[in-house]
Amino acid sequence: MMDFIGTANPGFAPYAMDELKRKHPEVAVSGIAPGETFRIGCPSRTPDEWLRELRRDEPIFLRHLFPVEAESALGEDADSIAETMIGFAASCADRVRGATVAVQVRKSQDSPFPFGSAEGRDLMRPALEAAGAEVAARDTRWILSVYASKKSLYMGLSAPEDNLSDWPGGAVRFRREEGLISRAAFKLLEAERTFGLPLGRFSRALDLGAAPGGWTSVLLERGLHVTAVDPAEMADSLAGHPGLAHLRRNAAELSFPPGAFDLLVSDMSWDPRHTCRIVSGLAPALVPGGSAIVTLKLMHRKPLQTISQLAEEYAKTFDIRRIKQLFHNREEVTMWLKRRA
Ligand SMILES: C[S@@+](CC[C@H](N)C(=O)[O-])C[C@H]1O[C@@H](n2cnc3c(N)ncnc32)[C@H](O)[C@@H]1O
Repeated sequence: MMDFIGTANPGFAPYAMDELKRKHPEVAVSGIAPGETFRIGCPSRTPDEWLRELRRDEPIFLRHLFPVEAESALGEDADSIAETMIGFAASCADRVRGATVAVQVRKSQDSPFPFGSAEGRDLMRPALEAAGAEVAARDTRWILSVYASKKSLYMGLSAPEDNLSDWPGGAVRFRREEGLISRAAFKLLEAERTFGLPLGRFSRALDLGAAPGGWTSVLLERGLHVTAVDPAEMADSLAGHPGLAHLRRNAAELSFPPGAFDLLVSDMSWDPRHTCRIVSGLAPALVPGGSAIVTLKLMHRKPLQTISQLAEEYAKTFDIRRIKQLFHNREEVTMWLKRRA
């Protein structure tokens, strides 16, 4: 039996647990911090096999996981908590020798854990360095995860790919650049990274529901020509950009010549069924094999049911490559689709 700590976006842990139970009936799941973290018990198969299967068909709502290799009750005394953490770091010596390690320390909101994430990392650093490891923030061979809940401390060492995300708890952070038009831009940047889909590979994009222009600005920066569709105004900073055409129209009323675009993106604030009808109706404007990145708004409906019904609809026109709730998604998930050739 190997246990894992799983994390989902705030409020989505029940759906992440439900999804896991449906896909992997053999695992046991139970909540830890309401709405966000939970425990996954993997009884029957070896964890490696299960992790491979999980990565092959990645769940929508599970954002991050790490193995529980050490677990202890969280006492009041900061010194003894520090001692437990240092002891675990020292116990990893044989595995981390000569390798790079990221130390990721998180806690639930209701946890009495007394250390911040940098403080926690610095506590464990000497034990790791004494073992000949180099502690770094990113692109490491190993991740040492520490998670403190209200009552317990969980720790484990794993390869980044086995955590589904190499960010602490899957919380992807982008530097907030000067002049960023909207936070929505982070969604597209995260989709690019998560789906391994470099946007600079495309040349002509159709952006539906584009205003105020966060996604459009990312696409323009990557050198694409963008047709932005939105009745609302685009940001002033985009006015007169030579790569941009803004159509102040309802996307449902438009059509384009076949194969006019090699990328379609849609972030329309709209009932997901309408969005699906609009995006599917505009599919012929995409070259065969062209990609679409579409946010699917969940609108407080049963998320798993909404997603499976809409996936069926989208699948009439597109191959569905990935559906994932990204860290930057709120009441929505992001789909990567490819127009069927
Ligand atoms: C969440 S905002 C998009 C943010 C944008 N992706 C960004 O990065 O700045 C949603 C937009 O969808 C637009 N929208 C909703 N329904 C639409 C439709 N039928 N056709 C075109 N735009 C639509 C709204 O006007 C709104 O500006």
